[in-house]
Amino acid sequence: MIQDIKETVAESLLEIIKSADDNINMTKQEIADMLEYPPDINMGDLAFPCFKLSKQLRKAPNIIAEMIKSKLDTENSKIKNCATAGGYVNFTLDDKFYADNIASDVFAQKDKYGSSNIGEGKTAVIDYSSPNMSRPLSVGHLRTTNIGNSIKKIEQFCGYKTVAINYIGDWGTPFGKVITAYKLWCNNMSEVEEKGVYKLLELYVKFGVEAKKDDSLNNMARESFAKLEQGDEEATKLWKKFTEISITELKRIYNIMGIEFDSYDGESFFEDKMDAVVEELKEKNLLKLDQGAQIVDLSEYNMPPCLILKTDGATLYPTRDIASAIYRHKTYNFDKNIYITDFRQTLHFSQWIKVTELMGYEWAKNCIYIPYGIMNFGGQVMATREGNTQLLDDLLKLAVEKVESIMEEKNPGDSNLSSEEKKEIAKKVGVGAVMFGDLSNSRIKDVNFTWEEALNFNGNSGPYVQYTYARICGVIEKANTADIYNKDIVITNMLERELIKLLAQFPEKVLIAEREYEPSVICRYLLDICAVFNRFYHDYSILKAESEEIKNSRLALCEAVRYAIGNGLWLIGLEKTNKV
Ligand code: ARG
Repeated sequence: MIQDIKETVAESLLEIIKSADDNINMTKQEIADMLEYPPDINMGDLAFPCFKLSKQLRKAPNIIAEMIKSKLDTENSKIKNCATAGGYVNFTLDDKFYADNIASDVFAQKDKYGSSNIGEGKTAVIDYSSPNMSRPLSVGHLRTTNIGNSIKKIEQFCGYKTVAINYIGDWGTPFGKVITAYKLWCNNMSEVEEKGVYKLLELYVKFGVEAKKDDSLNNMARESFAKLEQGDEEATKLWKKFTEISITELKRIYNIMGIEFDSYDGESFFEDKMDAVVEELKEKNLLKLDQGAQIVDLSEYNMPPCLILKTDGATLYPTRDIASAIYRHKTYNFDKNIYITDFRQTLHFSQWIKVTELMGYEWAKNCIYIPYGIMNFGGQVMATREGNTQLLDDLLKLAVEKVESIMEEKNPGDSNLSSEEKKEIAKKVGVGAVMFGDLSNSRIKDVNFTWEEALNFNGNSGPYVQYTYARICGVIEKANTADIYNKDIVITNMLERELIKLLAQFPEKVLIAEREYEPSVICRYLLDICAVFNRFYHDYSILKAESEEIKNSRLALCEAVRYAIGNGLWLIGLEKTNKV
């Protein structure tokens, strides 16, 4: 096990450190946790930074490093070599000891390799995607949907029970607008049923255009929504139908992306739970009248007031989020309550989470807001449809088409694959390209999406990772070897060594991605391991290796790398491709 390797090194280190100063108060575990990986594999397999010890031993880090090097016995040890670099000591491990320990970890856990149990017995609620209804998903919804899905998987991999919530925006004045537009310019439910949410979008856009010319339309929309709030039968029926139609289309797109939710309890679900919140805020003396509106004053916390009730008594977005957080805690008893939206809602989340804290809910500290940067789809990426909406569906379709033509270009008329198989692969790779193009960027940064990058099959893209995965599957299939796991991995060159090191790092990368809510950590890892694997594949023969032993070893190494890449792909929500 990786842990065994680190502990073995730590044991030797502890002995030396103690011999230098008997009063040093450190455990083997602490030292094991301090071990790092040198930036360059030629420097060694593990590195020990001496900076922390410097204070306790009252010696410069590089002197401590030299002292460790001089005292370390590399005869009969699992450590074969030891070198210093400034304040670091770098260790090169015994080949067999290194490879055996890592391989046994990977093969014992296979598609669970990299997972952990830090979340065991705990629940993480994750609110993502959460679009407003009566409109199809736009490219603007890509990041919340994608990042949320990956964070859900990362939490699951770390042992958390997850509840994925799509807090759909299914309430509010936009519904008054759609109902009004429908009654004025359509009034034909079979047409809406046939064209689905795209008809609703058309009506909504038309409303916007017409209302600019004729303000009375806005009054009609307000009235329609007021009717809906009062439970008017016709308005309710239309609203229900429109929401149903919107959700059907949503699920179609989520299905293409392999995304699922456990709950669609959206804004309307909390309508009857708002009065209680307002009452509670009153009782707790938190509400203040401000120019006719009810607010919670947050000036003490350097924030503008949180609006609870409008002058006309209507509830607001923050009120609903407070009600839904209370509900989520009651219903799921969460240990983490995560929200994912673009950074422009930072103030909104800081405000209402502060309000729940002031209400005395100790779980307020477990409400976690995860912002992300804006994704820019430069003008040339796609034409816009009516009302300036770039639809996510169009983006995904275009991606699949582009991959189909790249595949045709690479292997014209390729006969190994049926046209069905080709279509299936193009779908996985096209959708994967878009998802990876998003997730590979640091979450908080603005992203500039370009087809050149997303579809660059030779590097830094989803297709590159999926193709590498398929390439490994191809080698293993061709070898047709039984018992691949029971073969020893023997390190015969630096690239193999580097692959072992990357395999060893995977569980730690997952933990970092979990701690920082940062799927890009997994993406970068995948790009790194794929790059090294492809160099290895290019430079060395696998099936025609020098000996049977080396062939078997390389196959086992391929299989181990396949698990790491496969698990990484799963964590970012990309499909695996066995063939290309
Ligand atoms: N519907 C909102 C929007 O489109 C996002 C909701 C995010 N979740 C939440 N609980 N506020 O901007």
